[in-house]
Amino acid sequence: LTPFKRICIIGAGYVGAPTGAVIAYETNFDVAVVDYNAQRIAAWNSADLPIYESGLDHIVKSTRDGISKHADGVTTRSNLVFTTDVEGSIDAADIIFIAVNTPTKTQGRGKGYAADLRFVEEATRTIAKVAKADKIVVEKSTVPVKTAESVRMILMANAHPGVRFEVLSNPEYLAEGQAVADLLDPDRILIGSLPTPEGLKAADTLVEVYSQWVERSKIITMNLWSSELAKLAANAMLAQRISNVNALSAICEKTGASVDEVAYACGLDHRIGKGMLKAGPGFGGSCFRKDILSLVYLSETLGLPEVANYWRGVVDINEYQKDRFTKRVISCLFNTLTNKKIAVLGFTFKKNTADIRESPAITMVTNFLSEGAQVAVYDPRARKQQILVDLHQARDDTVALENNLMICGDAYRACDGADAVVVLTEWDEFSNVDLPTPEVQTADPVALRRSTVLDPNANNFVPEGTKHKEEELCAVSAFLSALKVRNVKVGSPHITSDEEGLEGSRVRVPVTPAQTVPQWRIDWVRIARGMRKPMFVFDGRNILDHGKLQRLGFRVEVIGKASLTEANVQC
Ligand code: NAI
Repeated sequence: LTPFKRICIIGAGYVGAPTGAVIAYETNFDVAVVDYNAQRIAAWNSADLPIYESGLDHIVKSTRDGISKHADGVTTRSNLVFTTDVEGSIDAADIIFIAVNTPTKTQGRGKGYAADLRFVEEATRTIAKVAKADKIVVEKSTVPVKTAESVRMILMANAHPGVRFEVLSNPEYLAEGQAVADLLDPDRILIGSLPTPEGLKAADTLVEVYSQWVERSKIITMNLWSSELAKLAANAMLAQRISNVNALSAICEKTGASVDEVAYACGLDHRIGKGMLKAGPGFGGSCFRKDILSLVYLSETLGLPEVANYWRGVVDINEYQKDRFTKRVISCLFNTLTNKKIAVLGFTFKKNTADIRESPAITMVTNFLSEGAQVAVYDPRARKQQILVDLHQARDDTVALENNLMICGDAYRACDGADAVVVLTEWDEFSNVDLPTPEVQTADPVALRRSTVLDPNANNFVPEGTKHKEEELCAVSAFLSALKVRNVKVGSPHITSDEEGLEGSRVRVPVTPAQTVPQWRIDWVRIARGMRKPMFVFDGRNILDHGKLQRLGFRVEVIGKASLTEANVQC
């Protein structure tokens, strides 16, 4: 039997808190997510969680409050706490994850490029100071390769007599906007360790934790340095794909090619694949830019300037893309934005998250304001206060936020009296593309990835084996709660006797894919009615039905497509 484990996660951010919640949800371990930011912890302990992720509310509330989490009404104990008691929780834990922020350095050597590891170092020193028994320390934060060596050195140099630490690398690959689905059903779990017997044993312990809900074949163990570098490498390659397609979008705009078609054609090549080939106003989010810059710095310190320049190009194209799109707006609006109203739809760096860190909207809104525009922003999730804070940080002295910026509670107010609408985030509610008919609606693809156990055609789920009915019900309950999070509707489980007359029973559960397409969309006819003429729409995400908008009288400008003038309107 697995010994009962206590887990402490340092850092209640976008990674630490959802990770802790999912571990608590999928295992019996006691999980403490700790942070010295009391406001953040209070928010995690409240009804209004500080981070929006689909399914997170259910997972946090069921594990934190111990309310019924399973479809069959089984009540579970609470095994997740959020606390500012960093030291007490470290002391009590067997496994400690470091999930603190690793931003880009803002001063000193490597300023503007290198990862600032002071939070990792501080957390490490606290662990060493507090731990009175052996601990496994897991690097969850994204760090430059070889950081585990420094972590180990700090721990050993400050350890209480007789206390031993093993350091593992276990980088997080969740993507914001689908964090819970990624945590429940990851593509892979990397666990890096030293190749010593103690290192391998520690890795095995962590494998045991994950294998409670992740297929064993997806849990990969490797050497520490490969694991650390693999995270930076993956982010650099993902960002590079976006810069590839954005660089092509500039060529498309000048030639009449359509970036959608070009990306589609490339993506059909199985060696290239379809993911991350959507042109847009530039990538954002807290990770891509900082992680590529960290790789650039790492390359430079290793004496590899050509490699550094290669990766720097990915960031440069991203800046170019934001600048290019801003210039397109200005030039279409007769080269001046002074006293014009620009409605910006979408401020988060992508849909389904409230996160605006490094969002291209920050740069673009700042640019519009410095051109003298009145800017009205609407985003379904971004918090008003955070938008103001980030714009204040980004603005130059000439930008008067107070008089020229409005943050609106709905799209109609933002667009009322506007000369142009600029769509910067691909929120479904902005799209005017026809909704699919009910027949073609499918379950969340993440759910269908579990097709080994979920058979949507047979409309049921049959767990493997002919175990005792109690065990089966338990297995089904866990599976069902995961399904619920994945937007699959489930009926009540019921026991049937085994068809082959073997001992035991089987549990059947009716399963129907839930509708995942949102029903609510903004009304572009109403938007058009309220705007100043001529009215423009700039589709920075290529999510709109441009023909329909043209028929409403919009002049439509799309990223990665030549200007759609009235001459080529297809009615
Ligand atoms: P975050 O900024 O949202 O959260 C970090 C938290 O750590 C903050 O609440 C901060 O107060 C806390 N903290 C810092 N030092 C502390 C200490 N010594 N003791 C207690 N609490 C401390 O950061 P986020 O986004 O969760 O990222 C964490 C790490 O995960 C970073 O290295 C990031 O690169 C990586 N990562 C982030 C992903 C994302 O989508 N946000 C995805 C995958 C990895």
